[in-house]
Amino acid sequence: MTTQHDVQLLLASIVESSDDAIISKDLNGIVTSWNQAATRIFEYTADEMIGRPIAVLAAPDRIDEMPKILARIRSGERVDHYETKRRSKSGRILDISLTVSPIRDSTGRIVGASKIARDITEKKLAEKAIIDQAERLARSNADLQQFAFVTSHDLQEPLRTISTFSELLRRRYSGKLDEHADQYIDLLVGAATRMSTLIRDVLGYSRVVRGDNAPVSRVPSKLMVEWAIDNLQGSIQESGATIELAELPVVVTDESAVSQVFQNLISNAIKYRKPEVPVRIRVQAETKPNEWVFSVADNGIGIAPPYHKNIFGLFKRLHVNGYEGTGIGLAVCKRIIEKQGGRIWVESELGNGSVFRFTLPRPETANTDA
Ligand SMILES: Nc1ncnc2c1ncn2[C@@H]1O[C@H](COP(=O)(O)OP(=O)(O)O)[C@@H](O)[C@H]1O
Ligand SMILES: [Mg+2]
Repeated sequence: MTTQHDVQLLLASIVESSDDAIISKDLNGIVTSWNQAATRIFEYTADEMIGRPIAVLAAPDRIDEMPKILARIRSGERVDHYETKRRSKSGRILDISLTVSPIRDSTGRIVGASKIARDITEKKLAEKAIIDQAERLARSNADLQQFAFVTSHDLQEPLRTISTFSELLRRRYSGKLDEHADQYIDLLVGAATRMSTLIRDVLGYSRVVRGDNAPVSRVPSKLMVEWAIDNLQGSIQESGATIELAELPVVVTDESAVSQVFQNLISNAIKYRKPEVPVRIRVQAETKPNEWVFSVADNGIGIAPPYHKNIFGLFKRLHVNGYEGTGIGLAVCKRIIEKQGGRIWVESELGNGSVFRFTLPRPETANTDA
């Protein structure tokens, strides 16, 4: 037989073994019971607390909160999972989740309150650390983007002056000073040109990063490739490259951005060619159920597998000697393709040409069979 006494012992032992502080108080806020977890959390023993006002635990900025809670209890209300702060005996401020409910006697009269308090200090700290970290990251990202944009934009102006006047120096004084002067002027003009390319590319990149998604439209991908080829006429003719276009699908995408991707990939295919071999580039596409997979293949110098990911990073260049460039082209491609919801990667071996592939998602509703 389980007696009333047994049940009370059982309940008492449940209360004692709880991880949460379980406290009861009368309607004047005087503590009437205090479990072990309450001692662990608030550092006061049951002897120290029973008979004393619960207000001992009030955090300095929460003094007026306790009478309000008591008022709600008197009118029969509960307070559920209320997050607040309390102060421990040694003065530590704790984050606490509180549930307070009225205690009634056998006639139903409210005679006090039971209070379950969970210490959520650690949880709060962890949450705050994550939020702080995310905010810091977002802020520094925004700062960086702003910085890249403003500096590259503002650098253009003085650079234009340097370019113009070094060009003028060359035109007017080349051959009239000594040979050192001619060499210095050439170096000056060369450096100014390189810097303006760099600034143009950084600006281009920060525009892609900052820019909103342009609206997508239905566009024959052949047009985008032809636009890229038109822009590269100079280096195509100079290198004698042949560019072969396979059958290319009509796609739905941001036309000008993806045209830029084709231009960057084809210009790399020409630039990183083998010296003695005629350049052959092939652009093709595969239509899959959910996406198009484009490829730009070349017969150039190739890329060793350890660098296949790396080269898509900003300013990452494998071939610093003998090839002009800024290391921004592939980073721009990656940004553009990922904004479109696609992926970009390279398949290559050193010395054996490269195949750059990227995907564009196929919208379900668009009829692009045409
Ligand atoms: N088709 C290619 N063949 C061989 N290497 C390439 C090719 N395309 C890119 N790379 C390598 O990847 C690097 C990054 O390319 P990119 O971002 O376009 O910068 P950049 O052309 O200005 O150097 C290049 O410096 C080069 O080392
Ligand atoms: Mg490039």
